[in-house]
Amino acid sequence: MSKPIYLVGGSKGGVGKSMVTMALIDYLKDKGESVLLIETDTSNPDVWKTYGSESNGELVNLEEADGWINLINICGEDKNKESTIVINTRAANNQGVQKYGETLNSTLEELGRKLIALWVINRQRDSLELLKDFREALPNALVHVVRNGYFGEEIKYQLYNGSKIRGTVEKNGGKSLTFPDIADLLADEIYTNRITISKASVDMPIGNRAELKRWKSLACAMFNEVAI
Ligand SMILES: Nc1ncnc2c1ncn2[C@@H]1O[C@H](COP(=O)(O)OP(=O)(O)OP(=O)(O)O)[C@@H](O)[C@H]1O
Ligand SMILES: [Mg+2]
Repeated sequence: MSKPIYLVGGSKGGVGKSMVTMALIDYLKDKGESVLLIETDTSNPDVWKTYGSESNGELVNLEEADGWINLINICGEDKNKESTIVINTRAANNQGVQKYGETLNSTLEELGRKLIALWVINRQRDSLELLKDFREALPNALVHVVRNGYFGEEIKYQLYNGSKIRGTVEKNGGKSLTFPDIADLLADEIYTNRITISKASVDMPIGNRAELKRWKSLACAMFNEVAI
């Protein structure tokens, strides 16, 4: 088996997909993994701008058939065999997934890679409806749901916590996770200055670093639950 493909989805705008992707890259690098970033948000490639150069980033448009072909070819290249693939998706990417998702779904076995989706949600219903479509389009993906703590504590996710889709996700081996909230000051600084989390962990003032450390250890505990 080659290294897995992590796809950070959610389809809704602003739910924290890029934030989770950045935290995931940081987590994998801390573990010593080689990471290859596929940035599919071609209109606002925020993760690619920060992590592209250190993670051999590629920009791929998953709205078009060509983009899916390109993605699969990258995953299959011999030189990338030892790299974990991390895909950051853009808002409203469900149409591309519905149209072409099967191309990836059907090649996973030949690629010898597992597809692990981290589905980032806020507290609204459409996050869950979009998840149903995603599961249908990519049935071979192992889907974990990520409640973003930025929108409230776990207990406030009543809609998801008591939902049928939660039962389905967990029955299929998926987990219901909570991504930690980070102080706005730090989130803003990371976004505005486009610095990697590892660089921020060294360069920031002591108070900021302490908050970053707190957040990183919670994020690490979350990713430990899904890492293979
Ligand atoms: N866990 C978090 N802690 C603190 N702030 C957060 C967190 N998650 C998201 N945010 C804030 O919400 C904003 C939007 O997050 P992010 O860019 O990751 O969302 P997105 O789903 O990638 O959005 P888009 O659909 O535009 O790509 C960030 O700029 C950040 O300020
Ligand atoms: Mg984003």
